Amino acid sequence: MIEARGLARSFTTRHGTVEAVRGVDLSVAAGEIVGFLGPNGAGKTTTVRMLTTLLAPTAGTATVAGCDLRADPAGVRRGIGHVAQGGGTDPSVPVGEELDLQARLHGVPDRRARIAELCELLELTVPASRPSAALSGGQRRRLDIALGLVHRPRLLFLDEPTTGLDPQSRGNLWEHVRSMRDRDGTTVFLTTHYLDEADALCDRLLIIDRGGIVARGTPAELKRRVAGDVVTLELSGAGEPGPAGGEGAASSPASAASPASAAERARSALARHPAVREATVTGRTVRLTVQDGERELMGLVRSLDAAGVVLASVSLARPTLDDVFLAVTGRSLRDAAA
Ligand SMILES: Nc1ncnc2c1ncn2[C@@H]1O[C@H](COP(=O)(O)OP(=O)(O)OP(=O)(O)O)[C@@H](O)[C@H]1O
Ligand SMILES: [Mg+2]
Repeated sequence: MIEARGLARSFTTRHGTVEAVRGVDLSVAAGEIVGFLGPNGAGKTTTVRMLTTLLAPTAGTATVAGCDLRADPAGVRRGIGHVAQGGGTDPSVPVGEELDLQARLHGVPDRRARIAELCELLELTVPASRPSAALSGGQRRRLDIALGLVHRPRLLFLDEPTTGLDPQSRGNLWEHVRSMRDRDGTTVFLTTHYLDEADALCDRLLIIDRGGIVARGTPAELKRRVAGDVVTLELSGAGEPGPAGGEGAASSPASAASPASAAERARSALARHPAVREATVTGRTVRLTVQDGERELMGLVRSLDAAGVVLASVSLARPTLDDVFLAVTGRSLRDAAA
């Protein structure tokens, strides 16, 4: 459905050249829901605008919905639906007219029924005569989405579709995107910086950072491949001298048995484990990245036992997409997006 090779776009501004997208390759098969995930300014919208013919690439080629991007932009536009990040409604035009115009432009045969169906589905229950300037932010977003869907496109681009929607509306949209795919085989290319959205909705993810794709795969694959499981060990202070001593404890003669050194002993005992990829110590807490954590956990605990380290608690967590992003870029997606 989408094949892009070396797609790039730079912008020349007064302050120099911005390389917004630097040679992106991507393939999206028919019927897939693909998430394009990355922090603010990563190049998501620029990529989507190129793939939807709104912006000419500076380099690269692409076929979208069976048509060549450069040779047949009109063909591309006929085959796709696009919900732009900032929306595209005229604030003064009544909601009903906007929807009707869009349906007529695309030659939707049963347009009244289709519009009614979409409004019900997206819970867009405002009077048809109301101009979009008088809608709430969430209502306007749902109108944008209805406009992008009205002609039942085979390939749908959604650029941050759920920004500004309440949790229930987000849930409804996810449900609808899934059902479009399951029922009609619609292909969806969706940008987001919501990790939960990417995780819940997408079959496959492309993670973009600073104009380049830094990781790709199914959410489960990415988490397995890049991050491993996260095991957090809380060391017991029991039996340690001067547990309430705070900073004073570190300089006491018994400092060999202080919490910090117990954590150090734990770290060095665990570092020898082949499954442990990374171990960091903060106070009494040891955080490990472990391949196949569930299976390895008992062995890790036994090694700690042998090293004389007493544990207060152990927890195992599956990695999040944020851990994946951290592993591939060295930054947290949350920090990068801030
Ligand atoms: N018309 C333009 N002129 C100059 N720079 C631009 C233009 N459009 C985008 N950029 C720059 O290109 C980079 C990528 O922007 P883009 O909108 O693609 O990011 P994004 O990943 O969609 O971010 P967000 O999550 O904030 O929507 C940014 O540094 C942005 O400032
Ligand atoms: Mg964007």
